[in-house]
Amino acid sequence: MATSTFYEELRPGYPDSIATAVTARLGRRPGNAVEIGSGTGKATRVIAPATRGLVCVEPSPDMARELTQRVPHITVVEASWEEWASTGPGTFELVFGAMVWHLLPTQRSEIAARLLTPDGILALVGRVNRVDDSSLEDRINDVFRSVNYPQGPRHNDWIADDLRGSGYFGPITDSRHDVTQELSTSDFCRLVTTFSPYRGLDPEGRRVLLDRLAETVDEAGGSVPITWITTLFLAGLSTPSSYPGQV
Ligand SMILES: C[S@@+](CC[C@H](N)C(=O)[O-])C[C@H]1O[C@@H](n2cnc3c(N)ncnc32)[C@H](O)[C@@H]1O
Repeated sequence: MATSTFYEELRPGYPDSIATAVTARLGRRPGNAVEIGSGTGKATRVIAPATRGLVCVEPSPDMARELTQRVPHITVVEASWEEWASTGPGTFELVFGAMVWHLLPTQRSEIAARLLTPDGILALVGRVNRVDDSSLEDRINDVFRSVNYPQGPRHNDWIADDLRGSGYFGPITDSRHDVTQELSTSDFCRLVTTFSPYRGLDPEGRRVLLDRLAETVDEAGGSVPITWITTLFLAGLSTPSSYPGQV
């Protein structure tokens, strides 16, 4: 089954409070907005109605197909964001992205700044998950370590640090929009297959990881309570002179 199917089924959606916070900071519904890496459209469903026109840039054909089928009234471009941005697609009042900043090239802040109108904003959602049972979380982490699984950051603050460090953005605000879910053993294992480091393991590593996770979760009663720590970062261009579109 395609990763996009498990992704759509098992990754939780985003609360509407994210769209409310974006339009409040902008002071209006943006007329021209772009979403980076929309995936199957989980965040798109929340942000699209808060805009008057949204372009979704998504390089995976599977994801782009699901997105087109699931979310009406959007324009889908099947390309990487940096490749699309290099074609000079114009300027945007909102550049939005959920769980994607870490996948973009290091010049990401400069590219985003170039896409924005002088009073436009960059809105980035970061998400990490926490198992809400510390002893189960320790045992699950031991399993991940046993197959040399590369663990990502345990918090979202690196996004604000990255934006600030680029010199293009400021002031940067953040707000929390957490979501919880309770997963059975098999759903937890299927969720893990949607994580990008999982796809970097060799077939034997994947099998061992899933077998050990299933055994660990079954021993703990067969369910995993998860909180998705979800942080929205909002940033305008730091000064008019940081607007690379200006000459
Ligand atoms: C973790 S998923 C997040 C999907 C969606 N934004 C969400 O929150 O559910 C990351 C998405 O970014 C896409 N992606 C990866 N590299 C990208 C790039 N260079 N430009 C645009 N999208 C990218 C992937 O194909 C994937 O759909």
